[in-house]
Amino acid sequence: MLKKIKMKLKEIKNLHLEKRWTFTLAVASIISIFLLAACFNLGTVSSLSKFNSFFPIFNTRTTNFAEEKTQFPPPPPRPTVPRFAYLVSGSKGDLDKLWRTVGALYHPWNYYVLHLDLESSVEERMELASRVERDPVFASVGNVYVVPKANMVTYRGPTMVSNTLHACAILLKKFKDWDWFINLSASDYPLVTQDDLLFTFRDLKRDLNFIEHTSNLGWKENKRAMPLMVDPGLYRNTKSDIFWVQPKRALPTTFKLFTGSAWMILSRSFVEYCIWGWDNLPRTLLMYYTNFVSSPEGYFQTVICNTPEFNSTVVNHDMHFISWDTPPKQHPHVLTLNDTDKMIARGSAFARKFKQDSLVLDRIDRELLHRKNGSFTPGGWCKGDPSCTKVGKPTRVKPGPGAQRLRRLIGKLLQQPKFSQSQCQ
Ligand SMILES: *[C@@H]1O[C@H](CO)[C@@H](O)[C@H](O)[C@H]1NC(C)=O
Ligand SMILES: *[C@@H]1O[C@H](CO)[C@@H](O)[C@H](O)[C@H]1NC(C)=O
Ligand SMILES: *[C@@H]1O[C@H](CO)[C@@H](O)[C@H](O)[C@H]1NC(C)=O
Ligand SMILES: *[C@@H]1O[C@H](CO)[C@@H](O)[C@H](O)[C@H]1NC(C)=O
Repeated sequence: MLKKIKMKLKEIKNLHLEKRWTFTLAVASIISIFLLAACFNLGTVSSLSKFNSFFPIFNTRTTNFAEEKTQFPPPPPRPTVPRFAYLVSGSKGDLDKLWRTVGALYHPWNYYVLHLDLESSVEERMELASRVERDPVFASVGNVYVVPKANMVTYRGPTMVSNTLHACAILLKKFKDWDWFINLSASDYPLVTQDDLLFTFRDLKRDLNFIEHTSNLGWKENKRAMPLMVDPGLYRNTKSDIFWVQPKRALPTTFKLFTGSAWMILSRSFVEYCIWGWDNLPRTLLMYYTNFVSSPEGYFQTVICNTPEFNSTVVNHDMHFISWDTPPKQHPHVLTLNDTDKMIARGSAFARKFKQDSLVLDRIDRELLHRKNGSFTPGGWCKGDPSCTKVGKPTRVKPGPGAQRLRRLIGKLLQQPKFSQSQCQ
């Protein structure tokens, strides 16, 4: 920007050499006005991002000013607090569970898409929409959105992946400036505060994707990759289970299959790649996975590991504490008070699955989130009396012990050479 102004002025200067002094003065005053405006603009991060959109030069971390050998101060750092975009989804009877999870997860800096699938009653979905509308904090910030046209979602079917992609598309369209997408269900619950999460992720490269994965399909090769099934949720408006068709198919040879956890944290750039699909792979794989059992455990894994632009951004962890049988059965254990210590020691950001109003959730609220009955998880943004009924500065994050646990875990995951060696193996 500055360079442009300078070049323009130089051109003019050459035309009117005699008025040289006047123009030096003009340059100086334009630059001072510019810097003055910059100083006033730097007060808050939100105004900084507005500032950035006008002056894209600041978006890059390179010091363009320094190269010009001027005495200007170094450019301000880019907005450092990242933003998360959440999908929280549920089904029939999940309204209260989902509402509690959203309360525990809420932060005015993030975005939330809530979805109750078509199996839940119209009343339940209306009640969710009206609770969101009536909440004074949600209403004032406007960062919680209820999917108005519910999707039919079949357990283990591709409709689960399409529902996730639908939420991604809504988040890309409605909210422009988030950094990571996180997919949760009403049976999930956070083990750290959003301030802990924002604080920890602030220092991470924005292109990292947390997707647990392996190419070792094991029993899934025979039981998942070869049988073909159809999900009636794709074309029927009443719920019915997936059904099997014959014959089986061979393993693919144009891409390599990966499998892993259905819970993940995806970078915005990877989500854009999956939704916009400027390469055909995300689309081809979506079609392939249409007839694949439990596609949520394979789709994103297979896309990311078969894409050279993204395969080095994947961290082999799902940031969830999930208690499986060994070997894993279809459903994980429901977590109870007995799991608390293990859950905390592992350092994950989220855990699943929980029963509605389970005692362990009360303990997490009390000891990990410091969340009072029915209110939001406290954070640096909280104002008002009672606390968190008004929104202060959303980018003031106050990390607690949860940030340390999370930092330790992520630090271990990113340590080289282990980090690279666990990618797409
Ligand atoms: C996303 O969240 C839902 C929870 O409703 C889950 O069942 C699904 O498997 C998740 N993952 C993907 C990749 O869609
Ligand atoms: C990523 O893809 C490139 C190109 O296919 C390949 O050379 C590289 O080994 C891959 N990296 C990982 C971690 O799989
Ligand atoms: C916790 O563990 C104890 C014994 O180890 C057992 O008796 C109790 O039923 C467990 N509680 C729950 C809620 O699973
Ligand atoms: C928590 O809230 C519920 C309903 O909102 C109420 O019944 C209960 O008494 C409250 N408990 C405390 C400790 O305030």
